Amino acid sequence: MLQKPRGTRDFLPDEMEQRREIEMRLRKVARNWGYREICTPTFETQELYVLRSGEGIINEMYTFEDKGGRKLALRPEGTAAVIRMYVNEAKVLSKPLRWCYLSDCYRYERPQKGRYRQFWQFGVEQIGADTPAGEAEIILLAYEMLKSTGVRFELHIGHLAPMKHILSELSDADRKAVMALLDKKNFEDLKKYLEGINAAGLYDSLIKLIECKNIDEAIELCNNCGVSSDMPDKDRMKELIAIIDSQKIDYKLNLGIVRGLDYYTGMVFEGFADNLGAENQILGGGSYRLAHLFGGDDTATCGFGIGFDRVMVSLGEVKPASSPTVAVVYTSDVAGYAFTAAKELRSAGINTELNLLDRGIGAQMKYAAKTADYAVVIGAREAEAGTITLKDLKSGEQKECTVADAVQSIL
Ligand code: HAM
Repeated sequence: MLQKPRGTRDFLPDEMEQRREIEMRLRKVARNWGYREICTPTFETQELYVLRSGEGIINEMYTFEDKGGRKLALRPEGTAAVIRMYVNEAKVLSKPLRWCYLSDCYRYERPQKGRYRQFWQFGVEQIGADTPAGEAEIILLAYEMLKSTGVRFELHIGHLAPMKHILSELSDADRKAVMALLDKKNFEDLKKYLEGINAAGLYDSLIKLIECKNIDEAIELCNNCGVSSDMPDKDRMKELIAIIDSQKIDYKLNLGIVRGLDYYTGMVFEGFADNLGAENQILGGGSYRLAHLFGGDDTATCGFGIGFDRVMVSLGEVKPASSPTVAVVYTSDVAGYAFTAAKELRSAGINTELNLLDRGIGAQMKYAAKTADYAVVIGAREAEAGTITLKDLKSGEQKECTVADAVQSIL
């Protein structure tokens, strides 16, 4: 028997209905905040991701050559393609642009619970605002969207300015290496690395930074960390946090957030579900700049991606909003009458399933009990009288009536 590829999943109807219910809630909140849905191709040129993240990214992607020899990649995330599309198609539109998408993404990772090779991101991108209000909107929208799903989560908000300031006297390569260790929370190797480059003193500052409870504490720490230059973005960080605080959301200031993707420039934030194991990050985002790498003007952008599959795992069983289903049960001599009755039920908006197999009324009723809430039973007598027999499969009650009356009873 053939199996599906490693790291992919099949979704049966029950699961798809639950997924659609949660997608609908996320779309509704995004639209309510003015974010309109877009769609980009599933595959892009490899160059797009190499320009964004360097050659190393090729090892983490599904890459292929098409029959024309073009080097392509399945998208590992949504943001790069959205900004490529903005540069290609939408540069002239009035800013800010507010866009959202639900996209399947592909990463060549080691699969485990909550980590797949094909997964879905609900992404949001805001283009061209470059203000604390714009960044605050993105964080607050992410919070509202996660809330709407019912998932229990912790939101961490950070900013890269203090960390970059503390590390500003290191070489680019050392700063990247230190930030990668911080990202992995590998403090042992971090200490060793800093000792190895004669910068052991930075370790304490970094640990203190991660423990900062408010932005003033962080600014104070940066003023006294021994770096002579002034830290950029102080007022902007304060303004952003003031707006967030005014909205009374639950969050934790976390100036140790690094974010794995290296295109973030300032504000960064992450969300964690409280009932998942190692793969508990359900949201990641921040401010970034990519447009200039793809041939556009340097444009401020910010956004986030919700790990849709992880939200579903965290939620467990979801009750989708359901509407009643009717099974039309009939004897083969009245098939035409039954098809017409089904047509009437469907045009009234009722989900209707018609018997397709050559089986008796008893067997049809048994099947109906598994798939439907009501049975509409039709035999020669009903067909002659222009009626049907409506049976409520939960209570067992039944009555003979017209299809129009049945519609009234069901809805
Ligand atoms: P990211 O943190 O790499 O950010 O991915 C966003 C979310 O996708 C993660 O927080 C996680 O929940 C989910 N995710 C990532 N990899 C997997 C996987 N293998 N299986 C299941 N879920 C996964 C981004 O991709 C950025 N584009 C987010 C962004 C948008 N930043 C600005 N705008």
